[in-house]
This record gives sequence, structure tokens and C-alpha cells, in this order.
Amino acid sequence: MIDVTLTINGRVQSLRVEPRMHLADLLREQLNLTATHLRCEQGACGACTILVDGQPARSCITYAAMCDGAAVQTLEGLQDDAVMTALRRAFSEEHGLQCGYCTPGMLITARDIVRRVPGADEKRIRLELSGNLCRCTGYVGIVRAVKRVLDERRAGALPVSDAERQPLGPVGARPAKPRARAEDSVAQASPLAEAAIGADAGIIGLNGRKPNFEINRSFVVLRPLKDVWAFFGDFAAVASCLPGATLTKTPQGDSVEGRMSVKIGPITANFSGRARITRDDARYSGTIVGTGIDQAGGSRAAGEVAYALQANGPGETRVALTIRALLAGALAQFGRSGIVEELVARIAETFAGHVEGRLSGAPQAPQQSTLNAGSLIWSVLKARLRKALTKIGLR
Ligand code: FES
Ligand code: FES
Repeated sequence: MIDVTLTINGRVQSLRVEPRMHLADLLREQLNLTATHLRCEQGACGACTILVDGQPARSCITYAAMCDGAAVQTLEGLQDDAVMTALRRAFSEEHGLQCGYCTPGMLITARDIVRRVPGADEKRIRLELSGNLCRCTGYVGIVRAVKRVLDERRAGALPVSDAERQPLGPVGARPAKPRARAEDSVAQASPLAEAAIGADAGIIGLNGRKPNFEINRSFVVLRPLKDVWAFFGDFAAVASCLPGATLTKTPQGDSVEGRMSVKIGPITANFSGRARITRDDARYSGTIVGTGIDQAGGSRAAGEVAYALQANGPGETRVALTIRALLAGALAQFGRSGIVEELVARIAETFAGHVEGRLSGAPQAPQQSTLNAGSLIWSVLKARLRKALTKIGLR
């Protein structure tokens, strides 16, 4: 169990949580704050949206233990909030709900739109709401309700203070910190905010900062060590084997620039970044140190990949990887280590297959322009379900 201190709806609370407990379970099961709903539990539907440090966050994929020191607000804590009061009234009058299951998450997102994008038109409202799914209303009433409150704000009938806005930060994805007084924790710059600053300032890689995930993986390529090692020296060829990756400039010495496009559920991130590559011919090992920014979505990543090649029997090479990364922004919420580890394993398998294909002279498969991690997540979940059913004898 882990001790955390959270400020929940304005009240500082010290709590003991399981390392794997997500915020939604903590709020609903331990604190009886049941306005936060759970539906997909995969970060896709938005029903569980709450505010962490003033930013909308999906509480079903945010570990409670990683939010030590954060301020959490649920619908229960926004009873007297002027924007929320206007939205509740507008949702009711514009028929913005039927069963009401999506409504708490929808209201939290709607409040964020009213506060953050005061000039939003219908198209922008629909875009901003696209991460919140409703299966009953057809969205027309919801969009009308948000528009109505925005109109009130533009007409000066709705006072909105900016006091709550903070720089885009971790949204619950911060690594657990050593115990500190709650107010100190909130005031400290989070490592993820540092990552953001670092990326903007042109700092490459972790540069001494602590990663928020680390993964060790290995895979086997059915080709001899020397061939695989030579192939790893051709950066353009390596990039062409990575789903979603492309080089944007011809590599210069040890430096490469490229793009990586990733789609997870409703979130698409197009990272542009730079990396420095080192190679040790004597040890068949190397490092890739890089930083990427998704300008549109605000996600940022900084990290290091260390790889080492080893003969794995005749004509086979084992590639061992250690990936250490610091993620910030929307994608950071997908940092549930189990899922990320399995995703990395699937990506590594795909990569190994492409490398084998290239080295054996097979025609190059068309480059996948976006890594659709959503479909990978579903296959990971199906595999897990199969395993669980087998375990209990139902398969
Ligand atoms: S329950 Fe969290 S996004 Fe669906
Ligand atoms: S009102 Fe039923 S899911 Fe939105």
C-alpha cells in the first residue's frame, strides 16, 4: 500500500492506496464520490473525466498513487461553481441528457471548453467534445447546451475566473514523489512539466531527469548478428521498419530528425523530434536519445533507447532494448505500465518482422503512416481475457 495526500474537492485527505488503484475507484469505492462514472475503463469514452490540478483527466487510467500532492475535483465539488451551474441548467433545458451516464464527464469537459475556448463555434465544440462519448442523445442537445453557456459568457453574463488555470502539466501521470507536505507538492514543478520545458528549449533526451516509465524487452531476428548490426547503422532503413515513423531529413552524422504518428482511442499525436545516435561496434550496442513534441495536442516525450545485439544461435540475433521515457500531455495518461509494456512488445515484434523481411530481400511492405495503438490495445486486452478464462477453466 502507498500513502498519498490529495486535495479532493478542496479538502486535504491522507489515504492509503494499492499501487494499481486508479483514481476513479478511489473516488467511488473509498470516498463514495459516485458522480464519477466508469464505462470503458480504457480511456476511450470520457465518462470518468474529472479535474486533476485543474485539467480534465480520465480517472480510469490515472493511478491514484501517481497523483500524490495533486488537487482533484469531481462533479460533487463543483456544486457552487458558476459555469457548472449554468451548464447544468442548459443541459436540462436543451435536452442534453437522456440516461445521464455520460453526463458527469460531459459536464466536466463542457466546463473546460467554456473556460478555455470562449470563442468556440459549433465545429470547435464538437471537436473539443470528441473524447466524450454519448450513446443516447445524438449530441445535438449537448452541443446546444455548451453553445448557450458560451453565448452567456460572451455576453458578459457569466463571470469566469482564470485562477484555476495552470500550465499544461501531468494530468495525473506524475511519478510518485517522496512524501512531502501537500502544499509543497502542488507548488513544485512536476517532472512532466520539466519535460515539456526541456523539449521546448531544445534539450534532447532525459538529460538527467527521472523517466516515468522504463521497459526492458528483447526480441529475436532470424538473421546473423553481423547483418543485423549493419542494418541498424542505416537509420533510414531502421525508421522504415517502425510503424508510424518517418525521417523528415537526411541523417547528418549521428543526428536524425523525424516524425512519429500514434493513435490511441480518440487521441492522435504527431510527434516531430530529433535524436542523437551512438554506436559501439566492438560491443554491438548503441543508444538513441531523443525528444519529440506533438504541437497540436500538446503531448511531449523525451527518452532514451539503449539496445544491444547478441548472437542467439546460428543465424539468429537477439536484440535487447531498454526504453526509458518521460511523457507529458494527453498521451501520458496511457502510461499504465502493463498495457504499455505489452504494446512495446507488439511493436518490437512488428519491427523484428520488418527487419527480417528487409534483410531477406522481401519486397518492402507499405509504410504504416500512423501507429494505431488502439487496435493493439484491443488485441492485448483480448489476449489477457483469453489467459484469464483459461486460468479459471472456461476455455
Ligand atoms: S471510463 Fe474512463 S474513459 Fe471510459
Ligand atoms: S445521456 Fe446516455 S450516454 Fe449520454
